[in-house]
Parts: sequence; structure tokens; C-alpha cells
Amino acid sequence: MSYPYQITSLEQYHRDYQKSVDNPQDFWGSVAENFLWRKKWDKVLEWNFTEPKVEWFKGGKLNITENCIDRYLPTMGDKPAIIWEPNNPEDRVRIVTYNRLHKRVCQFAQVLKNNGVKKGDRVCIYMGMVPELAYAVLGCARIGAIHSVIFGGFSAQSIADRLEDAQAAYIVTCDGAYRGNKDIPLKSVIDDALIGNKTVKRVIVYTRTRTPVSMIKGRDVWWEDEMEYAETQVEKDGVVSFPSEEMDAEDPLFILYTSGSTGKPKGVVHTVGGYMVWTNYTFVNVFQYQPGQIHFCTADIGWITGHSYIVYGPLSAGATSLMFEGVPTWPDAGRFWDIVEKHKVDILYTAPTAIRSLMGFGTAPLQGKNLSSLKKLGTVGEPINEEAWHWYDEHIGKKQCPIVDTWWQTETGGTLISNLAGVTPAIPSWASLPMPGVQPLLVDEKGNEITEKDEHGMLKGNLCIKAPWPGILRTTYGDHERCRTNYFATYPGLYFTGDGALKDDQGNYRITGRVDDVLNVSGHRIGTAEVENAINMHAGVVESAVVGYPHDVKGQGIYAYVIFSGHHGDDASRRQDILQTVSRVIGPIAKPDKIQFVNGLPKTRSGKIMRRILRKIAEGEVSNLGDTSTLLDPGVVDEIKNGKL
Ligand code: PRX
Repeated sequence: MSYPYQITSLEQYHRDYQKSVDNPQDFWGSVAENFLWRKKWDKVLEWNFTEPKVEWFKGGKLNITENCIDRYLPTMGDKPAIIWEPNNPEDRVRIVTYNRLHKRVCQFAQVLKNNGVKKGDRVCIYMGMVPELAYAVLGCARIGAIHSVIFGGFSAQSIADRLEDAQAAYIVTCDGAYRGNKDIPLKSVIDDALIGNKTVKRVIVYTRTRTPVSMIKGRDVWWEDEMEYAETQVEKDGVVSFPSEEMDAEDPLFILYTSGSTGKPKGVVHTVGGYMVWTNYTFVNVFQYQPGQIHFCTADIGWITGHSYIVYGPLSAGATSLMFEGVPTWPDAGRFWDIVEKHKVDILYTAPTAIRSLMGFGTAPLQGKNLSSLKKLGTVGEPINEEAWHWYDEHIGKKQCPIVDTWWQTETGGTLISNLAGVTPAIPSWASLPMPGVQPLLVDEKGNEITEKDEHGMLKGNLCIKAPWPGILRTTYGDHERCRTNYFATYPGLYFTGDGALKDDQGNYRITGRVDDVLNVSGHRIGTAEVENAINMHAGVVESAVVGYPHDVKGQGIYAYVIFSGHHGDDASRRQDILQTVSRVIGPIAKPDKIQFVNGLPKTRSGKIMRRILRKIAEGEVSNLGDTSTLLDPGVVDEIKNGKL
């Protein structure tokens, strides 16, 4: 097997880039030829960023699971599609071949059908990192149901909101999930989420931890029972089949909720054809994947990175994807390195947060670990600082492995800006060059293109993209206007990423971080408004303001300024209660790192909180707060400065 669209030299990169910009129809049409279509598209691309409307491969008919599984069965049925490494290194590894994956996905698709799920229905998936999660995702795709995976760290309330927004009638979950030395009771969280819910008809429960769970008659069924029965339906005389649903290229494949600058997460919608082409194309090119290599992406499938680079990108390329159930620091901080050695991993793709956290343990956990199988390294999710980049290069890659710094977002489906491993140059802490098909543009606050260089000879501005690539989001579920206002209205005619960036003379980009009210904590995206809403739910809280501050390991930490009026408890217990409240409302990932109680917040005369000032105080920059003359009560600033944590 080879990938005719794999870029193998810098010259070819420049050539392909130019072609993709000059004639996207031809360029992407010829890439798409390498997939399995039941019927070819009528038109490669139709778009405008005003509505917005983006259609790729319109009229094309396909099923993504045939591209991820069936087409590889004749030649690679016995090759591993997924290697699963359990949380506990003493437990049994599972190797799922393409044949086995086919069988399990057919079985699960049958289970969904048996339970009444139809094309277009929304299925919410809330599971730990077990192969069954991949079967569930692909089973949905096989029958054309829209999956909405929710990360295991979200609370019952967050799940309830997402169920409601997606009008989901089906849930797939586990009794519990193992993460390090913790056992997370997923089903019980689902039970809480379902109190008062009227839309959910069926909950399918996979047994992982055998933790006691409630099973409600008529609603809850066991995964194992359902799969056993389905096996008798899909397997006849040793031959497994379950006809996959014929999908239009522009039918929705999944919804994935993500945070923005407003209080409520948005359901980002990706469609079948474009997303498939984009995740495959970027996987094959960024990582320079060669058949037989083992790709280890350490993300959770609850985030977009897991969707695109554990499931759809690698499997659609016939790759072997390593899936890890646990955490990098349990049983000890050598866990990733043990996995690399045990499975002879070729490609390691992780987050800067993980690198910084492992760096903190020094090189002792690396002693005696054989990392010589590694050929390529990658990072994703947040800017990587140069120190972490060099540590990764020196201690993990032994200066032999190109590092790709991949910049992208839930909304972009796959990588937009990155070097290509060993093919285009790597520059520490620079995402570098745009992928073919991606046309970035830096603009000022008014939307004018930046043309003046700064004192370092760089262009600096807000990062926008001029034209669609196949993996761009199509809408936000149930509310297209929200999609328009969030991404396409700030700068008319452009997709606005929410990030700031620098550009050098060579056309390389360095992402500097979010320029909106969105935080990036350990590579997880959290809206400040969302955290404020959660804090304000606490009975004693009058008002709060949340900002980010630099954090050595997490990249950004969450700093909350809170006006409290209750009389209950002392500051320490109030803080704990607020943390508990945030955990309940959003989930533990949104818990503030610091909570400072204040008597007032700096506001303009029109009542707007001046976050710029709060951000500076949280960052420790107390001497240079800029102009405070427009404040209603400048006195509060001194009080806040003096009370800084
Ligand atoms: O700020 C950018 C940052 O993560 C944001 C997207 O978050 P999310 O949708 O959760 O997706 C994360 C995984 C793709 C971006 O707006 N970000 C992502 N990758 C990088 C990055 N910042 C700098 N460098 C990166 N490589």
C-alpha cells in the first residue's frame, strides 16, 4: 500500500501547496480519488463564508467505515488496526486486527439497529479509553447515526446539557473507567444526568470495572448481552457482514462539543466526506506515515485529537493505532516510555502539558528504557515552549526524530499548520507552514491584513483563514447562526480562529495563544464565561471574573476573582465549596487553580468588567496596569493587587 498524495520533499510541498491554492477543485478531487466511493461526487467544492455554506464532494456517496475497515480486509485483515494498552501494565494487551475490528463494528452497528437507532439519530458516547469506544464510534458511523462523544471528565450537568442540545435518545457508556489509581463511576454520572431527562430511550452499558451500577428496566441494557445476540445476526457460516448505510458526503458524521467565549459549549458538526479526506491526508503527510508503523496518539477520544488521530485518520490510512487507557504518571512517570518500548512505537503524538509534566520528573524515569523504535514525534493542543521542545528532542527523540508541532482546532477537523516530519523544516515552538489547501491571513482588530513588521521583523495579528479546506466545521448543531457569529462574522469573508500568531519572512507561523476569552488549560479548552457561570451557581457568590495566568505545567491556570456574600465557613472552606460547585456544574477539569475573594471588580462606568487589569494582576504584572482612569472605582484595583494569591 502507498499513498500517492504523500508529500516526500520540500519542493513537492511547495508545488502541491501552490496547486491546492490555484485549483482546489482539481487538487482535492485527485486526493479524493484514493478513497472508496459508492458514487462519485458531482462537484468537489462549493462555498461562501457569508452564510456560511461549505460543501465538499457534494453528491458523493460513501460510508466512512468502509474506508476505515472494509477496504483493508482483503490485504490486511490480519494486521493490527488497534493495539490497546490497559491502564494497569500487568493486565492483558488487546490486539484488534482489521478483521476483528470489522466484526465488532458490524456487531455493534447491529446492536444499535436492534435498539431502534436510525440514520441521523444522535448517540451520546461516554466511555473510558477501551477498544469498545472505537467500536461504538465506528458502529454509529456504519449505520449513519451521529455520534457525540463526551470526555469522561465532564459532569452529569454537562452531559445533561449536551443531551438536551443534541436531542440524543441513545447513550453508550461503561460501568466505570480506570485512570491511574482512580476508578471513575461513569454509569452513575449518566444516571445523574438522566434525572428528569425525557428524550433518552436506551443506555448501553459496557462492563469494564464491574463497579455496582443501577440498571433501569426498559432503559438500560448490557453491552455484552446485546453484542452476543447481534453476533448471531451478523455472522453466518464464519462470514461477517453488516451492510453499511450509504451516506452523502455532506451528511453529518459527528458532533463534538467545545467551549467558546460565551457560556454554553457549541456542538461542532463535521460531515462524512470532507472530514475523512482531511484527517487521512493530514495524518499521512504530517506524520509521514509508512505502512506497518505504530502510531501512538496519547489523547482521549473524548477530544478532537482522539477522533482524528486515533480513530479516523489512522484507520482510514490502514495504519496501526495504539490506544492507551491510562495516564502518563501511573504506576510511575515512566509509563509512556514503557509503552514505547513494549510496543515498539514509531510515532509518538502528545501534548506539551504531558511533556512538561514528565520533564518535571527529570531523566530518572527514562533510565534503561529503549526508545530506539521512535522515528517521529508530535505535539498538539497548545503552544510548546522552547525548553519543553528541546527536552522532547533530546531525551525522547535522541535528536534523531523530527518533531511536528501541529496547530489546529476542534472546528478544523485536522491539522492546518504544521511541519511535515523530516520533509519541511522544524523550528522549535513554531507550527511553521500551512498544509496544502490552508490559506492563513493575519489581520488587525478591524480585519485589515497586517503588512507592517514588528520590531523583530515579524508580522503579528489575529489568525484567520481565507478559504475552506475539506475538514472545516459545517455548522454548530441546531443553531447555524451561532456558527456564523462565532467564526465568520468577526471578520466578514474570513474564518476567525480565535488565536493570535506571528509570521516570519519564510511564511512560517508561530501561534501565540487565544485572543478571545477562551483558556487553554493542559491543552483543554475552557471558556472563562463558562467557569464564571459555574462559580456563580454557588449560593454565596455574588459575582465572579475568571482569567488565565501562565502555569509552568498546564500552560495556563485558572484564576478566579470572587465576590462572596455568604456567612458560611472561612475562606478555605468556601474555596473548597466553590471548587465542588464547579466540579458539579462542568467537571473537575474546570476547577480554578486560584480563588481570590474580593470586595469589588474593576468595572467601567457602563458596568463592563475590565479583564485586562485582572489578567495583568493574575500574571503578576502589578506595576504596569495601563490606563485605569475609566474605572468606576479605581480603589478596587489596589485592594485586588494587595490580596493577590
Ligand atoms: O489555541 C489553539 C490551541 O488549541 C486551540 C484549539 O483547541 P481544541 O479545539 O480543544 O483542539 C485542540 C487539539 C487540536 C487552538 O485555538 N492549539 C492547538 N494546537 C496548538 C495550539 N496552540 C499552539 N500550538 C499548537 N500546536
